[in-house]
Amino acid sequence: MSSSKLISTILFSVTLSLILQSSFGADPLFHFCSNSENFTAKSPYETNLKALINSLIYKTPSTGFGIGSVGQYQNQPAYGLALCRGDVSTSECKTCVSEASKEIQNRCEYNKGAIIWYDYCMFKYLDTDFFGKIDNRNKFYMWNLNNVSDPATFNYNTKELLSQLAEKASVNTKLYATGEEEEE
Ligand SMILES: *[C@@H]1O[C@H](CO)[C@@H](O)[C@H](O)[C@H]1NC(C)=O
Ligand SMILES: *[C@@H]1O[C@H](CO)[C@@H](O)[C@H](O)[C@H]1NC(C)=O
Repeated sequence: MSSSKLISTILFSVTLSLILQSSFGADPLFHFCSNSENFTAKSPYETNLKALINSLIYKTPSTGFGIGSVGQYQNQPAYGLALCRGDVSTSECKTCVSEASKEIQNRCEYNKGAIIWYDYCMFKYLDTDFFGKIDNRNKFYMWNLNNVSDPATFNYNTKELLSQLAEKASVNTKLYATGEEEEE
């Protein structure tokens, strides 16, 4: 790596970490109001949802992952999930989950289902049981605006790295893994 390239890489990393640091508490990365149905104010669903949200804010930070449901027997259950990134501290996790739940309720007021992503956490709720099911519907993409010089090699290396990470994550207690690969 040439020294000018190295310097620009370092500058880029510093800039990126500054952006990531200052962006927390501000804007979510993405969200969807995911249900076609709305609930009404003061309905059992609203009561169940509020109780669910409070329980997830309370229980998620200790392990970084929480699921729960409230109100099965009143016929308007709410199901929810909160997940923090594996390298995020307990206190950052708590701040993020609590921020996420407030923001998603503002953005998707009265919607029976919603999902929101931040850099540090994600938060989701729905009126049907989604636990243990792969969610192929709610997705978004973000990309680096810089181009690679050799796409074929880059894509090959990226695929290798991602499959190594999948292996590593599957045996990690937080189901989390990071890694890097030098560009040749
Ligand atoms: C739900 O509420 C939103 C926002 O108030 C509204 O735009 C939408 O039409 C409602 N949907 C239904 C199915 O009532
Ligand atoms: C990347 O490549 C695309 C397509 O060739 C081009 O339009 C774009 O300007 C390039 N971006 C940068 C940052 O060089």
